[in-house]
Amino acid sequence: MKKSTLLLAASLLPLLSACNSIAPNSAAASVATTPEAAWVGEARQVAGSVPPKLMAVLKTEMQQGGPAHAIGVCQVVAPNMAQAASQATGWQIRRVSLGNRNPKAVPDSWERQTLETFERQQAAGADASKLERAEVVTENGQQVKRYMRALPVQEACLQCHGTADKLGPGVAARLSERYPHDKGTGYLLGQVRGAMTLRQNVQ
Ligand code: HEC
Repeated sequence: MKKSTLLLAASLLPLLSACNSIAPNSAAASVATTPEAAWVGEARQVAGSVPPKLMAVLKTEMQQGGPAHAIGVCQVVAPNMAQAASQATGWQIRRVSLGNRNPKAVPDSWERQTLETFERQQAAGADASKLERAEVVTENGQQVKRYMRALPVQEACLQCHGTADKLGPGVAARLSERYPHDKGTGYLLGQVRGAMTLRQNVQ
């Protein structure tokens, strides 16, 4: 049940202003000008801080031992980093995907709806790196701040998440060994691979 809605997608802004010029009093115009709650900036910053750290580790591991080796590192390091960031910031942080590799990275219904929206926006030409959603929702009587930021497929991701022809040497075999139910391959450059998802109870 939604208490208040605040939908933020920077890449939608050109679209919104396009709507604006057609219908100056449309609801879309008021969404674009609603001042942002302070927690949104904080969530955005926290969500943005983890992926570059993880990618730095993966790059080093790929250089040293190749992508198949780096898979094993990612399996341990990625959840640990999310947990460390959760402890450091007071936000519950994890990664989710509609094509999840980690069996635990399944989105809940709010996250699923958000990821489906991100995928539609990306397919319609939006830059996936700009897609985000922030909202206060009520869950079992508790207000919860929720934030998601899309993780776009970059060149560096293709060795482990791309189509069969793009996967690195030994990657397919290692994946079927470690993630027998993997849905995290077959992605193309620019698509939404998944998202960082953050939540925190409203005090
Ligand atoms: C060295 C291989 C490797 C590379 C490169 C890589 N990933 Fe992954 N990725 C993995 C593995 C392994 C997992 C599962 C980790 C786990 O068990 O939690 C994963 C999981 C994820 C998840 C969590 C959801 C899920 O499916 O479990 C997201 C989101 C993700 N990767 C995005 C990316 C993006 C975006 C890039 C490029 C910027 C990238 N990955 C690069 C191996 C890789």
